Amino acid sequence: MIDNLFEKYQIRDTDKDVFWFKVAEADAFPSNGGLCVKYKDLQIAVFNYTRTGRWYACQNLCPHKMEMVLSRGMIGDEQGIPKVACPMHKKTFSLESGENLNGDLSSIATYPVKIENNFVYIGFSE
Ligand code: FES
Repeated sequence: MIDNLFEKYQIRDTDKDVFWFKVAEADAFPSNGGLCVKYKDLQIAVFNYTRTGRWYACQNLCPHKMEMVLSRGMIGDEQGIPKVACPMHKKTFSLESGENLNGDLSSIATYPVKIENNFVYIGFSE
């Protein structure tokens, strides 16, 4: 059952049309921090990386111990790669590719984010 939980976040086909899900006003997100939002039965971590002016979204589920915690992780930079460190045991993941940067865990799913009229949108493949 836990494996099924993880697989839900791997479904991503970048060739398909993107559905832009309207999340919330940009002001609702903490500077250089994250929030967890729900889309269907998925928990998505959304990060407002104020230091670089970029936004990122990824699954909230950490593949290490299958905990829904990544939105509470610290964001930072590793040799130019934006990353999130899980608050539980500090496994780090690229916010661009989803790759585990300090281990050999499965990659996490990442999603495109756009800001329009001060609203945050996450792109999902439908
Ligand atoms: S649960 Fe995320 S690093 Fe252990």
